[in-house]
Amino acid sequence: MARITASVYTSHVPAIGAALDHGKSNEPYWKPVFQGYDFSKQWLRDNRPDVIFLVYNDHATAFSLDMIPTFAIGTAASFAPADEGFGRRPVPVVQGHPELAAHIAQSVIQQDFDLTIVNKMEVDHGLTVPLSLMCGQQDPVTGAWPCPVIPFAVNVVQYPVPSGRRCFMLGQAIAKAVASFDEDLKVQIWGTGGMSHQLQGPRAGLINKAFDNAFLDKLIADPAAAAAIPHIDYVREAGSEGIELVMWLIARGAMADITGGKPPNVRHRFYHVPASNTAVGHLILENS
Ligand code: DHB
Ligand code: FE
Repeated sequence: MARITASVYTSHVPAIGAALDHGKSNEPYWKPVFQGYDFSKQWLRDNRPDVIFLVYNDHATAFSLDMIPTFAIGTAASFAPADEGFGRRPVPVVQGHPELAAHIAQSVIQQDFDLTIVNKMEVDHGLTVPLSLMCGQQDPVTGAWPCPVIPFAVNVVQYPVPSGRRCFMLGQAIAKAVASFDEDLKVQIWGTGGMSHQLQGPRAGLINKAFDNAFLDKLIADPAAAAAIPHIDYVREAGSEGIELVMWLIARGAMADITGGKPPNVRHRFYHVPASNTAVGHLILENS
């Protein structure tokens, strides 16, 4: 059977992708950001999954105000990086896993979560920047990401957005779906976005280190308490884009301890300010 082996949490700041793509990762501003992922790149090489289930948000790239799916699962065989206005990122096309994605859609919808099924989609920085951070720079033509990726897009851009509690419950349903897939696959689930940031309005530039670190503590040791945080607290404390953190609760809800297993091992924790307008947070939790 398939099983979830680990969860990874990371910010997805688009300027991180631009820094990598333009060879700036050794500049003094960016070096400390990328150093926080040195361990992670080695860890991913040592713990290579068969599939990554990557929870992210689309930033009005594949979707727009014309169509706003709350939860969308990518079931295609491949997903090209999108042109977000400055050309496509020079990174490999993302290969999907249509069989596992279709199985998860079937199982999760039957567990009462309504997913939008997306058979054709391009993916933006929300998905490609976490891959670059964890896998390093890959040649767009001769390179490849280490394994197939199932993109799972969450609406955190246009209100109403899903609650942290619902995201946490959805993670549990995804874990159950993975565990009923009849193939011996190691699956990692990644929750991306966050941490505190606000990109517009009078509070643009807001960063809240105390909130972010308390969130990391709670996510590790008391995830149900993290899941109970209401929207208004994210917006007040972590800024309007801090709401992206609800996506981390999907990944956390899929870990074994939530349904009676052992607490996860914290393999890596990293926090750094600034990266563009955002506080970068990163965790690796392994199921024991
Ligand atoms: C920034 C962060 C984001 O999460 C995003 O989607 C766009 C921009 C930033 O910090 O600049
Ligand atoms: Fe974002």
